[in-house]
Amino acid sequence: MNKFAFIMHPIVADDVARKFSFTRSWSDTAKERLVKYLPPFKISHITGVKSEHAEIEGYFVACPLTSGQLLGGVPAEEALKKIIRAGKVAERLGAQIVGLGALTSVVGDAGLTVAEELKIGVTTGNSFTVATALMASRLAAQKMGVDMDRAKVAVVGASGSIGQVCSRLLAREVEQLVLVARNLERLHKVAERIREESGRAAQISDDVTKALSEADIVIAVTSSLDFVVDPLSLKPGAVVCDVARPRDVSEEVARLRDDILIVDGGVVDVPGDVNFNFNFGFPPKTSYACMAETMILALEGKLGDYSLGRDIRLEQVEEITRLAEKHGFKLSGFRSFERAVSDEHIAAIRSRARQVAASRA
Ligand SMILES: NC(=O)c1ccc[n+]([C@@H]2O[C@H](COP(=O)([O-])OP(=O)(O)OC[C@H]3O[C@@H](n4cnc5c(N)ncnc54)[C@H](OP(=O)(O)O)[C@@H]3O)[C@@H](O)[C@H]2O)c1
Repeated sequence: MNKFAFIMHPIVADDVARKFSFTRSWSDTAKERLVKYLPPFKISHITGVKSEHAEIEGYFVACPLTSGQLLGGVPAEEALKKIIRAGKVAERLGAQIVGLGALTSVVGDAGLTVAEELKIGVTTGNSFTVATALMASRLAAQKMGVDMDRAKVAVVGASGSIGQVCSRLLAREVEQLVLVARNLERLHKVAERIREESGRAAQISDDVTKALSEADIVIAVTSSLDFVVDPLSLKPGAVVCDVARPRDVSEEVARLRDDILIVDGGVVDVPGDVNFNFNFGFPPKTSYACMAETMILALEGKLGDYSLGRDIRLEQVEEITRLAEKHGFKLSGFRSFERAVSDEHIAAIRSRARQVAASRA
């Protein structure tokens, strides 16, 4: 039976209490101090992942650093060293491939150095994350009655590993595409590539609020530690797919705006009688897309490196989509801020959006 591992880290200091309940009453600073000095360790044994073709087992391994510590709170070399040590824990557990979760795939060169230092295969999971972000956005748009081909679609974080491939694939089907991030030069390069590949002219913008005020569909996939979507900037009836961890959209947006649909990108149903033996905030038998990619590769016996670096190949997105289907991984029902989103809820958002739009006309 092939074995995989997946490296996780506490997104915020509060997550530390998910594993160490005795820290529940501690301050964030105290929790951060504790994790900083902890070595990587096995969180849980994952059993029951089974497709029609194969069965695998795996492990969650902790890289004890919070999002803030991974992106600047500790020196970059220290963060990278800890991710590599977490990879070595995965090796010792017998894993043949390891996935890099959340910001462990963003630090440094998106997995390339980590892969050089490990004997086993490494993936960021970004190919399947792209595939599911696009599937979720298309389905959410359809349910909100937004015609994706004609809509104005904004990708926030469009020069990043995930955002860039999302944008290149969207350019094949969307007429009005807006690429958003802080560095215009990098965005310009993505727009050039899109023009060469699809003949389409994508707009670029470093003004998130303005770009979002005109968008019908927003795919948010930045590596920002802070929320980037301003609740008041969005159009009534807009669809927002938040792929980022930490999130780009605050729960306040959902509270203040009952006329827009916000869905989590990349929630996937995992085949088999799966037990993760750890609560990471999702319903049983569902995972993030990046975790799913690691499991799909282990089931398929593709145990070498896969999605690495900031230039993910379109063919890999297509291949992992085929393999996901083969092994029975499916996009899960919509979730928003750790709650399921029903069709009735979407109908209420649509009706509210019509009222708001009429009152503004
Ligand atoms: N849901 C899942 O299954 C899943 C799987 C993998 C990764 N992720 C998450 O996806 C996110 C992106 O990962 P990645 O590997 O694509 O990261 P990346 O390669 O570092 O790209 C990040 C992008 O965000 C932009 N950005 C950063 N801060 C910004 C800000 N304040 N405002 C606007 N744009 C900003 C960057 O451009 P500038 O620097 O020019 O602004 C860049 O375009 C991370 O949060 C990661 O944890 C989720």
